[in-house]
Amino acid sequence: MAFHPLMMMTLVVVVSCLFPRVYPVGQNPIDACWRGNPNWANNRAELADCAVGFGKDAVGGKQGRVYVVTTPEDDATNPKPGTLRYGAIQIEPLWIIFARDMVIRLESALMINQFKTIDGRGVKVEIAFGPCLNIKDVSHVIVHGIGIHNCVPEAGRAAGGQGRGGDAIVIFASSNVWIDHCYLASCADGLIDVIHASTGITISNNNFTRHDKVMLLGHRDANKPDKEMKVTIAFNRFGEGLTQRMPRVRLGYAHVANNVYQKWKTYAIGGSSDPTVFSEGNHFTAPDNASAKQVTKRLKTEKGGLQSWNWRSSRDRFWNGAYFLPAGHGTFLPLYSPSQKFKVAPGASAPALTSDAGPLTCIPGKPC
Ligand SMILES: *[C@@H]1O[C@H](CO)[C@@H](O)[C@H](O)[C@H]1NC(C)=O
Ligand SMILES: *[C@@H]1O[C@H](CO)[C@@H](O)[C@H](O)[C@H]1NC(C)=O
Repeated sequence: MAFHPLMMMTLVVVVSCLFPRVYPVGQNPIDACWRGNPNWANNRAELADCAVGFGKDAVGGKQGRVYVVTTPEDDATNPKPGTLRYGAIQIEPLWIIFARDMVIRLESALMINQFKTIDGRGVKVEIAFGPCLNIKDVSHVIVHGIGIHNCVPEAGRAAGGQGRGGDAIVIFASSNVWIDHCYLASCADGLIDVIHASTGITISNNNFTRHDKVMLLGHRDANKPDKEMKVTIAFNRFGEGLTQRMPRVRLGYAHVANNVYQKWKTYAIGGSSDPTVFSEGNHFTAPDNASAKQVTKRLKTEKGGLQSWNWRSSRDRFWNGAYFLPAGHGTFLPLYSPSQKFKVAPGASAPALTSDAGPLTCIPGKPC
């Protein structure tokens, strides 16, 4: 039977009334939770219900007022109202948004306080060319839709100084943290460090590019409390010009799901000190270098030994000679609670699910 165009239109109208939010094919479960709402700008806190994985419970500033950043200026010793720093250091919950496009060059690392969301939707916000973000000894922080790049150490500090040494984001002794739809590139040290027994973390929908040491989960083999660390890394794009550590894991647990890896330089996933890594539904394209085809790298411990590993691959897709060396036995599943659990697609779908990685261009009144 042939469909008359008018019948077709009626059908579409009927279907969209029955299912008011129609999501584009390929959208991942986080995005599908909020991007279809044209009224997103008046319902910003709705985003806080959309995380999946170990960082699911991060509420950010959901219970607080909206705070508007009106100026890119920064005065670290006397933070002024209207600046990002002034909002981020308050004790009360705040949902921080930006009045206009801006590039913020911070004077020192920004110590984000508990119950904060930094939400770049609707404008283009970059934190760059200075020290960057530090989430230390707090819980419930969400960072969404921000470009964080070319971060440098604080004046007088060397790179690698645990959070003040030129990382994009350091998560230090903190829990319930969600980093979503950010652009992360070209910093003096790491892009994201998760250290000192931080846990309950989701890193999703980010666009990583042009950097050496991408993501460190656990900073020392001897720091045994990192065994508690649980991190979900999902729907990210590990793009061009990345060398290693996507992530590098010590002691804890990482569920690495539905990410796209585009030609790393030395390896993609590595670690030491008995970590557990479950690689599920990723899309790995190896570099052309014949000696760097292996996704995985078992690193020596600080004492020089090779310890046991528990790393598994399920439904991953491999291109250009990429291969994954599984190891270990025993349990490796994330054992998510029902609310943390999400659908992981086969690796072949990862490119579609990550095609909007990084900050989105959102216009109020339209689906984002
Ligand atoms: C090829 O990969 C190996 C192993 O990671 C590395 O040592 C070597 O520098 C790489 N060569 C090039 C040209 O990148
Ligand atoms: C990610 O960043 C790279 C480099 O700036 C850019 O080419 C790309 O379009 C961005 N987004 C995605 C989804 O690839």
